[in-house]
Parts: sequence; C-alpha cells; structure tokens
Amino acid sequence: MSITAFTTIETGRLRLRHFMDADLAPFMAYRNDPEVARYQSWEGISESEARTFVQEQMKAQPGAPGQWFQIAVELKETGVLVGDCALKIEEHDERQAEIGYTLARAYQGQGIASEAVRCVLEYAFVTLGLHRVIAITDCENAASIALLERLGLRREGHFHQNVWFKGKWGDEYLYAMVQEEWLILRRDSSG
Ligand SMILES: CC(C)(COP(=O)(O)OP(=O)(O)OC[C@H]1O[C@@H](n2cnc3c(N)ncnc32)[C@H](O)[C@@H]1OP(=O)(O)O)[C@@H](O)C(=O)NCCC(=O)NCCS
Repeated sequence: MSITAFTTIETGRLRLRHFMDADLAPFMAYRNDPEVARYQSWEGISESEARTFVQEQMKAQPGAPGQWFQIAVELKETGVLVGDCALKIEEHDERQAEIGYTLARAYQGQGIASEAVRCVLEYAFVTLGLHRVIAITDCENAASIALLERLGLRREGHFHQNVWFKGKWGDEYLYAMVQEEWLILRRDSSG
C-alpha cells in the first residue's frame, strides 16, 4: 500500500506533527513518570534511547507494516510537547492498524487525549482510508478504557491473563472500530 506522507494536523487545541529535537526533554519527562508508564510495556527511557527515538521518528512515515509510527502531540498555545499518539499498520493486512496514546500527567483529565486520538482516527479512516483500527488496553487502565469508549470504539475481546506484565499475568481488552462506523459517527457529530 502506498501511503501519502504524514504532515502536521491541527485541532482546536493541538498540533499533531512529527517529533523534533526540542521534544527531547518533555518526552523524557513523561516517559520516565511511573504513573504514565504504569500500564505501558516500557518502564522508562534513558537520554540516549530518547535521542534515538526522536531522531528516528523525525524521519519516519506511517505505512511500514508492523512498525509503530509515533505522532507528537503539541499544545498550540505553548508549543510544548504534551504526549504522543502512535499508529501501526498491521503486518498481515495493510488496511488495518493499531493505535496507542500517551499523555503527560499534567495534561490528563482535560479531554486532550480524546482530541488527539479523535484526530488520529480521522487520519486513519479518512486520509489513509483504512478499514479497521484496533486498540489494546490493560483491563485495569480505567482512563484508557474510558477514552476508547468515549470515542466510540467497541470492546470486542477480553483476554484473560494473556500477557506477562510487570511481574504478573495481566488481562487485556481489545477495542475496535471500522471505517463505516467512524464515518457515521463524524456525520452525526457534525450536526
Ligand atoms: C490513557 C490516557 C491518554 C487518557 O488521558 P485522559 O486525559 O484521561 O483522557 P481524555 O483526554 O479523554 O480526558 C478525559 C477527562 O477529561 C475530562 N474532560 C475535560 N474536558 C473534556 C473534553 N473537552 N472532552 C473530553 N473530556 C474532557 C473528562 O471529563 C475526563 O475527566 P475524568 O478523567 O475526570 O473522567 C492517559 O491516562 C495516559 O496517558 N495514561 C498513561 C499512558 C497509557 O496508559 N496509555 C494507554 C496505553 S493502552
């Protein structure tokens, strides 16, 4: 599948863009916050790992099957990185993708993640024309579950102790939406 290059997208409060050098410090700060890492596969990040991540993502584009493309989420008002969203085109079918999202703690609880992920869904379904998008979340991650349900994704699966996670077996939910459902939602919400 040939995918057009990702360019900056603006929403009411946010700018979704490629990572840049200036993101290093805020990126490291939230990646090393234990509360932010709690339900993520990572624990933290060293400066050299963060530099490599930023350098790689500055040049990355979506569309490489099986590889995460990270989108920096900047608050327009301050120009500061507040989190990131991620999109991975599935290896077995390029019309399907998985999404992820992370927001620095100071910016949670304000609808910023909802605004960013809504934008990524619009990008996935409308710009890229994908058929189906999934998200996988720890069953204990209440904020993530609330976010996915707020955006209209459907819980399709509950995996029981399917992942060895931070010293114990964890459960995960699979959420999904197909393009047709997204188009109905955006039509209904546009009035
Ligand atoms: C998952 C995560 C991104 C959710 O962030 P969030 O800020 O709770 O999500 P939202 O942007 O949807 O904000 C919702 C909250 O903002 C409030 N809010 C305020 N204005 C709002 C608006 N305009 N629209 C929606 N919600 C709004 C909601 O009432 C809700 O408040 P509540 O948490 O008290 O119920 C965040 O918890 C996070 O980064 N966690 C760590 C990383 C992680 O676990 N990622 C998921 C891996 S699967």
